[in-house]
Amino acid sequence: MQMERLQKVIANYGYTSRRKAEELIKKKKVMVNGKIITELGVKVDTNDIISIDGVIINKDIKHEYYILNKPREVISSVTDENGRITVTDLINTEARIYPIGRLDYDTTGLILLTNDGDFANVLMHPSYEIEKTYIAKINKILSKEDINKIKKGIKVENRAVDVKKLKIKKIDKEKNSMIVEVTIVEGRNHIIKKLFKELGVEVLKLSRIGYGFLDVKDLKSGEYRKLTIKEIKKLFALAKK
Ligand code: URA
Repeated sequence: MQMERLQKVIANYGYTSRRKAEELIKKKKVMVNGKIITELGVKVDTNDIISIDGVIINKDIKHEYYILNKPREVISSVTDENGRITVTDLINTEARIYPIGRLDYDTTGLILLTNDGDFANVLMHPSYEIEKTYIAKINKILSKEDINKIKKGIKVENRAVDVKKLKIKKIDKEKNSMIVEVTIVEGRNHIIKKLFKELGVEVLKLSRIGYGFLDVKDLKSGEYRKLTIKEIKKLFALAKK
């Protein structure tokens, strides 16, 4: 491993976020090879022993990778100050895992979790265009014009959303609602809801059913499994393209 900034390496080991690692360094809580570090510029590699509050953090750290079918009313974070159930509460592990990206509190479906910071960074990098597929129930029957607008690229906060696929799954004329499948390659928060809002349409229900080649067909709501080595390698390999 090449030399990297200490705060980045601490985050990559899954101990805490980069920002919190910076705070710990400033508070003189971090030691490298037994020496207290006080500035943020220090670079380390995997041979350096890092300890925080006297506890070594990079000895025998095993990376874990999970795929979860998130239920509604579960928050995509590690902790919640309002005491709501988080995605990490649903997974039985001692590892300090966290979700890769977010699904809204009321969105269900596929979410990945890990304690491997490199893996998370790679998957979340904007240049890494992994396809994410959503099923959305919306409160309007889209017109041809609406569909063309979506395909052309509707701007959300000054940037067009690149919709790779849009499939009509069901039309309910009585209820004036529609179920659509939308595939996008970006990860901005609330992006599907914001995209439809630009057309004056509300998303009534949202579920992520696909993430690259992964799906959650084998997982009931709230169930999870470890990713296989093959899947992890395939995701890393995709990233290098
Ligand atoms: N887009 C949204 O609006 N919400 C999600 O949870 C995911 C994508």
